[in-house]
Amino acid sequence: MDFTEFKRRMLGQFRLDLQSYKENQLKRRLESMMVRQKIASFGELYKLLTEDRMAYETFLDQLTINVSEFFRDPQRWNDIQKTILPALLQNRSTLKIWSAACSNGPEPYSLAILLDEMTHGKMHRLDASDIDKNILSAAAIGKYNQDMVRNVSPQRLQKYFTREGNYYLVNDAIKKRVNFKRHDLLIEPYGQGYDLIVCRNVTIYFTREAQDRINSKFSQALTAGGIFFIGGSEMIFNYQELGLEKVLPCFYRKA
Ligand SMILES: C[S@@+](CC[C@H](N)C(=O)[O-])C[C@H]1O[C@@H](n2cnc3c(N)ncnc32)[C@H](O)[C@@H]1O
Repeated sequence: MDFTEFKRRMLGQFRLDLQSYKENQLKRRLESMMVRQKIASFGELYKLLTEDRMAYETFLDQLTINVSEFFRDPQRWNDIQKTILPALLQNRSTLKIWSAACSNGPEPYSLAILLDEMTHGKMHRLDASDIDKNILSAAAIGKYNQDMVRNVSPQRLQKYFTREGNYYLVNDAIKKRVNFKRHDLLIEPYGQGYDLIVCRNVTIYFTREAQDRINSKFSQALTAGGIFFIGGSEMIFNYQELGLEKVLPCFYRKA
């Protein structure tokens, strides 16, 4: 079985759209994974994934890099705190937010911390999703090493985390603000009426066609005036076609 046939079968068997990932990058990742696990061919890999559910979960875990951290790109988070959230909160008192491809949770928890500070205990709807079940289990636990909290101020560490040795555990008051669920951005339908959608550092793994498709779906999922927050190395070339306007670096507003 060659790589093309492997991708075709994965779509049929698991509804996993590997065709939408950048081919060379994906192939390299899978081949190095196969070397590590002593799997000789794509045929053998496919057989393993169909026979062993755990192997499939591990496979999803390795599809892309899971790296994340709290307040990643601090300048952009400063913009969210000083400009974006205050403007959104002027129009409505509770917000509907989606952190898509949230990895092990620092992104939605960073949002939850800001909202707690800015709206003093008011509950907002904060959805967070990822394709990878294992990483969502880690997100629900909410335990992070020092590198992942390096942009969190000492005051916030004190207020929103409990220290356990070299790790920091997010407090329950912040955890209960976030609803985690499994969601595949390439295959599954999107929600509606979001005031803010954050999707950062994942579309870099997708082909240009897939990027266009999902950016269009994100735009449709936003409410009028809603904000789309993307990663520092990402770009939406056709944002005007999608009914978006540029507000600040990494931020687009639905017209
Ligand atoms: C590098 S992390 C980004 C985490 C966070 N957004 C940030 O910027 O810090 C990329 C995440 O995308 C997820 N991912 C990959 N393909 C996906 C897909 N088709 N649908 C949803 N999530 C996906 C991975 O599981 C991984 O957790």
